[in-house]
Amino acid sequence: MNRLFSAWPLAAMLAGALLVSTSALADDNKCTIATKPESVVGKACASGGRKEAKKLMKEIVKKAKEKGTKFQCDGCHKNMDSSMELSKDAKADFKKLLMAAGV
Ligand code: HEC
Repeated sequence: MNRLFSAWPLAAMLAGALLVSTSALADDNKCTIATKPESVVGKACASGGRKEAKKLMKEIVKKAKEKGTKFQCDGCHKNMDSSMELSKDAKADFKKLLMAAGV
């Protein structure tokens, strides 16, 4: 019984170390703009970081295109590098994009 319990702190430490190292690795995958988990993109960011957000944005852009409204990534993102900087109309345009895509 005692031995079983004494193994717990070690297990917890190992799990903690794993968590710390994976989040450090995932840093460049971390969203810096869509940080609100209640937004559509924020949700994707929360579950899979930028990778997931990119997938989602592509999906939305594709849907909008199918419905006849064309948007391009660089129409809203001044930078497609690590900053993903938004242009000044991006937020307003994004609403239009979501409407057009019917998301
Ligand atoms: C109509 C404007 C618009 C278009 C087109 C657009 N985006 Fe975005 N994107 C945004 C906005 C606005 C946000 C921030 C959303 C938020 O804050 O919830 C965002 C967020 C992101 C993020 C998360 C960035 C971060 O660090 O939080 C990624 C990744 C992204 N977009 C990739 C893309 C890709 C790839 C495309 C092309 C397929 C694309 N976007 C097209 C407006 C746009």
